Amino acid sequence: MSLDIAATKPHERLAEALAEDLARVNAMIRERMASEHAPRIPEVTAHLIEAGGKRLRPMLTLAAARMCGYDGPFHIHLAATVEFIHTATLLHDDVVDESAQRRGRPTANLLWDNTSSVLVGDYLFARSFQLMVETGSLRVLDILANAAATIAEGEVLQLTAARNLATTEETYLKVVRGKTAALFSAATEVGGVIAGMDETTVHALYAYGDALGVAFQIVDDVLDYGGTSAIGKNIGDDFRERKLTLPVIKAVAKADADERAFWVRTIEKGQQGEGDLEAALAILARHGAVEAARQDAIGWISEAKAEMAKLPEHPLRDMLADLADYVVERIS
Ligand code: IPE
Ligand code: IPE
Ligand code: MG
Ligand code: MG
Repeated sequence: MSLDIAATKPHERLAEALAEDLARVNAMIRERMASEHAPRIPEVTAHLIEAGGKRLRPMLTLAAARMCGYDGPFHIHLAATVEFIHTATLLHDDVVDESAQRRGRPTANLLWDNTSSVLVGDYLFARSFQLMVETGSLRVLDILANAAATIAEGEVLQLTAARNLATTEETYLKVVRGKTAALFSAATEVGGVIAGMDETTVHALYAYGDALGVAFQIVDDVLDYGGTSAIGKNIGDDFRERKLTLPVIKAVAKADADERAFWVRTIEKGQQGEGDLEAALAILARHGAVEAARQDAIGWISEAKAEMAKLPEHPLRDMLADLADYVVERIS
């Protein structure tokens, strides 16, 4: 057997440690994405679900529940719920972002159409609610229903902040907390809740997920300017979409008159042409804006790890702490 270097990445180690649970989650996902009456539903869902995806959020739920000593059946339902919510938001997100690539494949909106993505996304949302109801816990229903609302709220706030050069880092943080961190924190929190943990533990799990989620989205936004298409998404989408993400917000804050005119033309007015993405990259580099955003992500990762350190020792706890580091290592 050859030495598999890739298998040493934290999320892969976590997947290995949770392999049995994760197989049950995947089986439940496959079972619940079925539809007796509308074949379009499993077609679209399978296209996205079977393309892989890191399964980060369900792993967070499984790890949280397991490290809290849970041995009942419902962490599987919750992990599947969380991945269904994630999948639904991705289907919707690729429509609103007009994205062409996801998980290394053409998006569902490109292969089928926007209508299919929106409606199948709705179906998956509804399925996620059926799944969480089966746990019989009103508390997890409350947490996940709130997360679903907060994600949508974050996406809508982003919609109104996009193209507006006056967008502040504070607004950006609100967007990111909503559209991304809300599901990370709900994923870890419900793991602790289903295991019947005390409030202090549940709060530390929540706070870990929140900080990890913020860091994760900052990194995603940094990769949109600095990464390669190896992450399975197109580079420069945010610029073309005229989104005010953290690197751009930082560069706009430091812009001289010429640079400001460039941002006004490309982001505010949307007049973009050949070479503009490269010009944007050069301006970002001049101000160290991508690096500054990366540093912010590192700060959030430290917070996430500090929350983990509050919890009792457990191999899964250490893996979650490593996962936090890995989120930023993706871009170093
Ligand atoms: C993508 O999340 C959406 C963001 C919050 C940036 P992931 O990068 O976890 O997506 P998959 O599930 O692994 O494809
Ligand atoms: C991801 O938003 C958050 C949600 C899916 C709600 P983005 O639009 O920033 O993520 P990618 O880059 O398309 O994955
Ligand atoms: Mg998107
Ligand atoms: Mg989006």
